[in-house]
Amino acid sequence: MIQVGDKKFEEYLTADQIQDCVKQLAHQIDTDYQGKDLLILGILNGAFLFMADLVKYMTSDPEISFLKFASYEGTSSTGKVNELIGLNEDLTGKHVLIVEDIVDSGNTLAHILEILSDKKAASTHTATLFFKPEAYQQSIELQYVGKEIPNLFVVGYGMDYLGKGRNLTGLYQLKP
Ligand code: IMP
Ligand code: MG
Repeated sequence: MIQVGDKKFEEYLTADQIQDCVKQLAHQIDTDYQGKDLLILGILNGAFLFMADLVKYMTSDPEISFLKFASYEGTSSTGKVNELIGLNEDLTGKHVLIVEDIVDSGNTLAHILEILSDKKAASTHTATLFFKPEAYQQSIELQYVGKEIPNLFVVGYGMDYLGKGRNLTGLYQLKP
């Protein structure tokens, strides 16, 4: 058990289990995008560790950039999505892969995809390390999912509780 801020969390996945998941995704993505012009867009802040590990495990040579949104405060989704920062690349003709740490309601992802929809990308797909199917409110297909997890708040491996816990190498679930 660990303490982050005023809450207690239990280990759910070890660092090794997460790395195995990331390696598998990297391999799948390498295979699927072979010979294609790939631009990977990581969603900050949560995806920073996943992105770093994912691209290190990849053997291809993608273009890498980041976008930033904020839609989450404390332990429940606020439902509102704020402004997008950082889209400087020309997406025309490129295969775009959105990289998320976790998809919960899916509202953030839906908003990003809507903004990117008129940018003339050759394709736009999504990779998320974690997915909470019970919380999902969208019908957008997620092409790459590392692991489905229960609908409980988690911290670690990029994900925070009130700004803390992002540097934990494992994943921790809020104790009910
Ligand atoms: P959504 O819009 O509800 O899908 O949530 C999107 C963002 O909220 C994710 O990219 C995360 O950054 C954050 N988030 C969702 N679930 C959790 C969680 O359990 N812990 C920490 N952050 C989360
Ligand atoms: Mg995020």
